[in-house]
Amino acid sequence: MSAVGIKTRSIGASVDRLDGPAKVTGSAPYAYEHPLEHPAYLHPVQAMIARGRVAAVDTAVAAALDGVLVVVTHLNAPRLASDKDRELWVLQSDDVAFRGQLVGAVVAESPEIAREAAGLVRIEYDLQPHDVLLSADRDDLYRPEQVIGWYDTDTSSGDVEVAMASAAVTVDETYRTPMEHNNPMEPSTTVAVWADERLTLYDATQGAHGTRAALAPVFGLDPEQIRIISPHVGGGFGAKLFAHAHHVLAGLAAQMVPGRPVKFALTRHQMFALAGYRTPTIQRVRLGADTDGRLTAIAHDVVEQTSRIKEFAEQTAVPTRTMYAAPNRRTTHRLAALDVPVPTFMRAPGEAPGMFALESAMDEMAMACGLDPIEFRVRNEPVVDPESGLPYSSRNLVACLREGARRFGWERRDPTPRARRDQGWLVGTGVAASTYPVFRLPGSAATIRVGPDGRYSVLIGAADIGTGTWTALTQIAADALEVAMADVDLQIGDTALPPASEAGGSSGITCWGSSIVEAARKLRERLESEHGGTVPAEGLEVTAEMPDNPYTRQLAMHSFGAQFAEVRVHEDTCEVRVPRLLGIFAAGQIINPKTARSQLLGGMTMGLSMALHEDSVVDPRFGHVVNHDFAEYHIAANADVGAIEVDWVDEEDHYVNPMGSKGLGELGIVGTAAAIANAVYHATGIRVRNLPITLDKLLQP
Ligand code: MOS
Repeated sequence: MSAVGIKTRSIGASVDRLDGPAKVTGSAPYAYEHPLEHPAYLHPVQAMIARGRVAAVDTAVAAALDGVLVVVTHLNAPRLASDKDRELWVLQSDDVAFRGQLVGAVVAESPEIAREAAGLVRIEYDLQPHDVLLSADRDDLYRPEQVIGWYDTDTSSGDVEVAMASAAVTVDETYRTPMEHNNPMEPSTTVAVWADERLTLYDATQGAHGTRAALAPVFGLDPEQIRIISPHVGGGFGAKLFAHAHHVLAGLAAQMVPGRPVKFALTRHQMFALAGYRTPTIQRVRLGADTDGRLTAIAHDVVEQTSRIKEFAEQTAVPTRTMYAAPNRRTTHRLAALDVPVPTFMRAPGEAPGMFALESAMDEMAMACGLDPIEFRVRNEPVVDPESGLPYSSRNLVACLREGARRFGWERRDPTPRARRDQGWLVGTGVAASTYPVFRLPGSAATIRVGPDGRYSVLIGAADIGTGTWTALTQIAADALEVAMADVDLQIGDTALPPASEAGGSSGITCWGSSIVEAARKLRERLESEHGGTVPAEGLEVTAEMPDNPYTRQLAMHSFGAQFAEVRVHEDTCEVRVPRLLGIFAAGQIINPKTARSQLLGGMTMGLSMALHEDSVVDPRFGHVVNHDFAEYHIAANADVGAIEVDWVDEEDHYVNPMGSKGLGELGIVGTAAAIANAVYHATGIRVRNLPITLDKLLQP
């Protein structure tokens, strides 16, 4: 660590967001807001069928509307270069693969004109029968080659069937999680400018370089011909990773009005078809235990969906591979390819739905064994990673459970379900574990430039999606350079900067921070060895790539946490309230307690929302999400959220990265829904295995 010997260490300080004043005064430009000359506005036309062909198009009325610049459909769209990613093969054929797919667009002088004209485009379809409903007994389920995160699709060791047959206590249950949609405050947005064979996108992206890399082959351009600018992004939750069809549509339209910036912000309705979503899951969990409550078998078999045009294979059972010790183990993933929009990453893809199932089953098993759910987990704590056999770089799940229990008042809990009543409300408490892996994405580099004035420019194409990247990376740079934060000028969010991996997989700080620390080390070394420690008049600049970390192959690296919930279920109406949540996490060195707390608080709030509210309801007759707006797709609002307390145990893990930190952007959502479901069981004696926990599932005849 280079933080030795400086007066104030920036890492660990609750620094206010550096971008805060710009954001609250409205001067931080989000994608739609960059001041550009003479913009035009795009409104898309979406397929009204779930499967079939566009048979006829009539754009005459739309094109004749005053202020319309161009109407684009598959009949006149510029040709794209690569159909490898069929989600991005926009307006290149008459094929309709899901309802809401892009089949055209209008570019006009105002958003209102574009919208009106889009409604005047007449399209006739040849309908084909569609299939949009996931079930576990479909005969067309298939085994993907890999699941997200480069994980094996299936794992197996020992013999689960034999172990289950001879186990003293067994749990064999199926858990379901619904389709859920990413709804960041800022919808997916891009502003495309096509000029001189170059495409510029002012974009809402979780990774400028990754989005460019995805789009370049589609347009047949060299990456250098595309520039993506995204200094401020209003959330993403995974929806803004890489590229989606709206990027391509805006790029195509921009080619038809060269020189004019084409602005395209998805409406909330459009987000539900075009920005990805969390796949619904059907998860069978089987646990076997001996009479002492030691697990002998863990099996987690997952069925989920993807789209007919593109595979997204969520790694739902992967957390089960690392959570608990047991000699006989099995995890599997099977997919149904349906006539549905393309699913994608949504905050803790895999872990969030997967740990709902596992941590509910663990609660059921603890009850069946007559053990306290915390003691049961502690009893099954592994010494090394159960499937890889690798030692953990650090694993402080037990410390989180113990500290959480102490703060939550767990020892006062009567384990009997339905034992506590308060003025017409059944009251219960529940616990669940949380975990998230340390990802290390390739492709980051940082440049640091120092001038004779002693100011340091730190350049990296990283993204701040509201997480606090601007602030945290400045803290990391300041410590690595042994200077004050005020001496550091950070630049992020632009492909003109050195490349950076995505703000995804909670990996940003590890990847970008490690690159910055490496560049700082090299810069200081060169200052010392070549310039005697004095900055030369012409300044000095160093670029460094993220160094390899051999420990990633030698150690298992994960964040952990323990989530506690208190719920109240009304005896008559079965309304569920969550007055209290507590999360205690082990996520390595906390770079900035203020922004870290926000991340965990937000994650837990989203977990509460997953537990009680979020549910994208598909109409099987038409294949669309019927509750595709904020009126009917309910996300936890202020009135739904009670007291949420967030804290962490002391942990520094220098095997993971030079800052000693692990990721925590997704950790907070993992386990929350199970803690709430377990608390609902404790309150009512009713086990809800099918999210969200709406009151109809608790009403007893
Ligand atoms: Mo996160 S779902 O990897 O943006």
